[in-house]
Amino acid sequence: MAAVAPKVPSNHKAAVYDKPGTISTKIITVDTPEPGPGEVLIKLYGEISLTFAGFQFSRMHPMIELMLMCDRTHSGVCHSDLGVMTNSWRVLPYPVPEGQVGGHEGVGRVVKMGPGVDSSGIKINDRVGVKWISSACGRCSTFQQYVLGPAAYVTPIPDGLDSAEAAPLLCAGLTAYSALLRSRARPGNWVVISGAGGGLGHLACQIASKAMGLRVIGIDQGTKGEIIMESGAEHFVDVTRFSQDDGISNHVKSLADGLGVDAVIVCTGSNHAYRQSTGFLRFSGTVVCVGVPEGALIPIAGACPSALVVQNQSIVGSAVGNQREAAEVLDFAARGILKAHVEIRKLEDLTKAFEDLGAGNLRGRIVVDLS
Ligand SMILES: NC(=O)c1ccc[n+]([C@@H]2O[C@H](COP(=O)([O-])OP(=O)(O)OC[C@H]3O[C@@H](n4cnc5c(N)ncnc54)[C@H](OP(=O)(O)O)[C@@H]3O)[C@@H](O)[C@H]2O)c1
Ligand SMILES: [Zn+2]
Repeated sequence: MAAVAPKVPSNHKAAVYDKPGTISTKIITVDTPEPGPGEVLIKLYGEISLTFAGFQFSRMHPMIELMLMCDRTHSGVCHSDLGVMTNSWRVLPYPVPEGQVGGHEGVGRVVKMGPGVDSSGIKINDRVGVKWISSACGRCSTFQQYVLGPAAYVTPIPDGLDSAEAAPLLCAGLTAYSALLRSRARPGNWVVISGAGGGLGHLACQIASKAMGLRVIGIDQGTKGEIIMESGAEHFVDVTRFSQDDGISNHVKSLADGLGVDAVIVCTGSNHAYRQSTGFLRFSGTVVCVGVPEGALIPIAGACPSALVVQNQSIVGSAVGNQREAAEVLDFAARGILKAHVEIRKLEDLTKAFEDLGAGNLRGRIVVDLS
């Protein structure tokens, strides 16, 4: 029997960038759109069923608690959202308009289907994720309660996986995994994750060490050591303890057989980190550029053609990942190999979340509860 479509309101809450160029968001009411051909409407917030009213969480059967946890829906807060909101990404063709809804790590349930989606395999009530690539249409951003998504490109969320932990996988986890694949590092190889305590970085450490059999050296600021080691790194290197690039590259090489690493995944937009990255490589190594520096467009300072030629090294860019890789990352999480470290905030506290992200006070990922 087909699932009954839930009732959809004519409008809903959304957090918009009200003063692009600065860290500022405002909650407004927007019309809830109708799904067009090939689209589904996704509800990005959930409420606890009245059936359970009056129960204390602590008195519930663990299975019911798990079901409720899975039904609350979330959106992760990525450093890319900060770069776009503050107009710091000089590679974008035009500044972000006032009133833009941000966010690109949304998890919710399908509540309405547009025409022509029957063959997509997606049904009413399915739990799905909305990713970065979907934001190209400019309408489907996830800091709001309802969002349109293409039926053929939303990502099914495995049963039993907490929505708050699934959300960061839709950009951070997927991007980290895809970049590691692009590095061509093989089991047993050494890899540096630069920015290893951040949203992308801590997931890159887990995927590299636990899913791909790589040996991880995590680099970040001093306060991030614990989350990096918990995420499977064999070594943590505190970047602030080295005043010279030679000093940190010699140290990293000494940790990796005295030769250096097979791959460096740069998961921070720091130009300083990019400048250091080539110095960590061994013969035939690869730097994968993932972080997007803000402000002026600065070339990678350590990239000398002659050194790249004689050392047979590569520098490649990596943008998010594809639908198959997204499904694989969610499967890692469903099987317990990958677990995002999340800090949950309310939609009303989104501006503060961005301020904390910009100030470098965070470990792992902030996720917004859209309830
Ligand atoms: N290529 C893609 O498709 C893609 C997708 C998503 C995100 N991104 C980009 O990837 C980057 C990371 O995003 P995110 O959300 O993971 O950001 P994040 O949570 O802020 O993580 C970045 C981490 O790098 C650390 N860091 C800063 N300077 C460093 C340095 N010199 N060396 C080593 N670590 C340093 C930061 O420390 P503090 O917090 O102390 O500053 C933080 O722990 C951003 O530039 C984002 O725009 C790219
Ligand atoms: Zn992102």
